[in-house]
Amino acid sequence: ATFWVLHGPNLNLLGQREPDIYGRETLADINHSLKTQAEAAGHRLECFQSNAEHELVEKVQQAPIAGVDAILINPAAFTHTSVALRDAFAATGLPFVEAHLSNPYRREPFRRHSYFSDLALAVICGFGADSYRYGLARLMRELPVTAA
Ligand code: DQA
Repeated sequence: ATFWVLHGPNLNLLGQREPDIYGRETLADINHSLKTQAEAAGHRLECFQSNAEHELVEKVQQAPIAGVDAILINPAAFTHTSVALRDAFAATGLPFVEAHLSNPYRREPFRRHSYFSDLALAVICGFGADSYRYGLARLMRELPVTAA
């Protein structure tokens, strides 16, 4: 299968950004490890980060046209704010997993609501960068290997 990994705002700062909460791995480290994990199992994977809501909405709209089978997304702060990004997933009907490095439920109350969780195939949080790896494992279990 072909997967896209989408990262929301401020995740470009991973490694330096509140490392006690988000860990020391950089976004490049995480992306590299996800690509390796997917390709070792015979899948294809590409990663994209944006601080702009409209760019993420456009990516989700483009995904089916680009032949993407499923998305792994950390919507970051847009988790708690973006009806537009939620609507993009509803419009495409593409299966997706929602991942968070931290556990939003043990943080500020405004992080407890997600606009994505009720549409997601699975939600994973609190495992640091491993949240992405487990999320990808879930998608790989769901979708068949396609010829490279
Ligand atoms: C986050 C949690 C969000 O509440 C926060 O706004 C983020 C990152 C996480 O991965 O733990 O930017 O999605």
